[in-house]
Amino acid sequence: MSTEPDLRFKLLELKDPTHPLLIRLRAKAPGTYFHSFIVAELAASAAIPFKGKADPLLAQVGGLYHDIGKMSKPEAYAENQEDSEYPFQPEVILTHVKKGIDIAKAYDLPDAIQRFMATHHGTQTPPQNKKTQSQSYPLSFRPQTIEETLVMLADSSEAAVRSSQHSDRDGIKNIVRSVIDAKIHDDQLRDSVLISNDLDIVEEHFLEVFIALYHRRHETERKE
Ligand SMILES: [Fe+2]
Ligand SMILES: [Fe+2]
Repeated sequence: MSTEPDLRFKLLELKDPTHPLLIRLRAKAPGTYFHSFIVAELAASAAIPFKGKADPLLAQVGGLYHDIGKMSKPEAYAENQEDSEYPFQPEVILTHVKKGIDIAKAYDLPDAIQRFMATHHGTQTPPQNKKTQSQSYPLSFRPQTIEETLVMLADSSEAAVRSSQHSDRDGIKNIVRSVIDAKIHDDQLRDSVLISNDLDIVEEHFLEVFIALYHRRHETERKE
């Protein structure tokens, strides 16, 4: 799928690290910013093989902005916390999709980008908690396009790989596979144009990004 020239221009503007929203995200929620940065890289690299059907730039910018709603209360999210005993606030976590859409509207972000905020959790519920067990994120719906699906899968994969102890190929591969299987099992890919053969390609490309990210240099490789 090729993107309209106007949207393409807007996407390049949004990718600029000096965009006011990215500056705010980095300052207020650095953990979310770097999580989003990796999600953007995963989604963009997995979009490349779908040449003509998906736009890697759209996937990348969607990844960068998908969690901007977390800026309003960054301390409620694990990636911004150094303290593992921080208070769990499911009622706050539930609001970040809607807050993201509100911020996106205030900054006049294109609809195509607002959809990444609305689709990255699909109809799933936040992490297990009695109060929210049956409640999905308000305004959320399942991903439909390739780019939206990639951001959903990249989002959960990044969180799962980062919170695991694995940095080896087999360990990471198993985690990514189990994330994708869980999305299928939870019926989150029902509206997506991606088919199961496509998911093998996605898995391979995510894996290469994670390996590059977590690869450890050997002492003897150090140049300085
Ligand atoms: Fe999110
Ligand atoms: Fe996220």
